[in-house]
Amino acid sequence: MTDLAPLTIRSAQGPYAVSFHGSAADAMTAAADAAGSLVLIDRRVRQLYVAACSASLGRAPLMEMDATEDLKTWSGCAQVLEWLSARGASRRSTLVAIGGGVVQDVATLAAHVFHRGMHLVLVPTTLLAMCDSCIGAKSGINLGTLKNQLGVFHAPAAVHLAPEFATTLSDADLASGHGEILKLSLTRDPPWVDELAVAWTGSGLRGPHLASLVRQSLSTKQAIIEVDEHDRGPRRLLNFGHTFGHALEGLADYGVPHGLAVAWGIDLVNYIALREGRLAESDFGAVHQLIARHLAARHVSKPTAAALVAAAGRDKKAAGGVIDLVLMSRPGALAVVPHPLDHDLEGLVDDYLRERDVFSA
Ligand SMILES: NC(=O)c1ccc[n+]([C@@H]2O[C@H](COP(=O)([O-])OP(=O)(O)OC[C@H]3O[C@@H](n4cnc5c(N)ncnc54)[C@H](O)[C@@H]3O)[C@@H](O)[C@H]2O)c1
Ligand SMILES: [Zn+2]
Repeated sequence: MTDLAPLTIRSAQGPYAVSFHGSAADAMTAAADAAGSLVLIDRRVRQLYVAACSASLGRAPLMEMDATEDLKTWSGCAQVLEWLSARGASRRSTLVAIGGGVVQDVATLAAHVFHRGMHLVLVPTTLLAMCDSCIGAKSGINLGTLKNQLGVFHAPAAVHLAPEFATTLSDADLASGHGEILKLSLTRDPPWVDELAVAWTGSGLRGPHLASLVRQSLSTKQAIIEVDEHDRGPRRLLNFGHTFGHALEGLADYGVPHGLAVAWGIDLVNYIALREGRLAESDFGAVHQLIARHLAARHVSKPTAAALVAAAGRDKKAAGGVIDLVLMSRPGALAVVPHPLDHDLEGLVDDYLRERDVFSA
């Protein structure tokens, strides 16, 4: 254990604890403790933590999975279900998912439908999965090229978290997690984005502050999901930055990590809010500077405004030529605003791409 106190998340499906462990081995040992555990693990994590895995996972049946968006689909899920069946799993078995958001999304859907629901234990190994997707009970898988079209709510029985996993992440995957941390820091009132800025400026994205940023992100998300687990009210605010973030990810063929696409999507909607007189230039500028300095997405070709608005129109949140955008009026104050998907919106997106885009490609 670390000195970080566990969190207990009150889900409609029952409470579950998020425990913080001092090492990757300790987190995996705690997770695979139950009899009847079967382990789905990110192939890369297995390779990087081979000794810890053999020490911690005992003789639990183990399936390795590549963390790719094209396996975050029915066919990826079917492979896991067939494996569970071949290994004699039952509804009393526990599926232990060790990996990032991709492995978690597939495991959550599989655990939900296998024998109408089996236990699920999560060991998040990316920063994004630690700070965001390991709580909230949501799973989303892709349908063709459309992101997160299919899903279920299935709460884990427990989450075992070890910040050590973040030490082996690539710079891009580390920055991606910080993109969701930025989002969460802007959703709480009062916001804690200033604290985040101090941490990033003082010790960069890999600093010793990581574990406490993870805990703060989780407690921010906890406050929202405990009042709206099923995404009908305030939880929709967690979609901040995601409409155009998802559009960018799709257009870049997932060449931009999710959290960096979200950070870029935040900057774009903040620009829209600025131009529509909802957000002050100083608040726009402060967040813009942070994203430009620490989270600018690189190495993707620049999309066009028309393609972005068309992709946003295919989002789950769009209907009848209108899209629900989450717009910020100041850090900590967000609202869902229905917005026509029209030439005016395309014009604003185009202005952003020409004048303020944090892209450096
Ligand atoms: N269900 C939710 O609530 C929710 C929330 C946010 C995001 N998501 C989804 O999560 C996905 C993104 O997840 P992600 O960012 O965790 O990425 P990921 O699962 O795709 O992993 C990113 C990369 O990191 C590697 N990796 C994982 N752990 C590692 C480690 N400890 N050291 C080194 N490499 C490691 C993986 O092999 C992969 O190459 C997206 O599909 C997104 O839609 C889901
Ligand atoms: Zn996200």
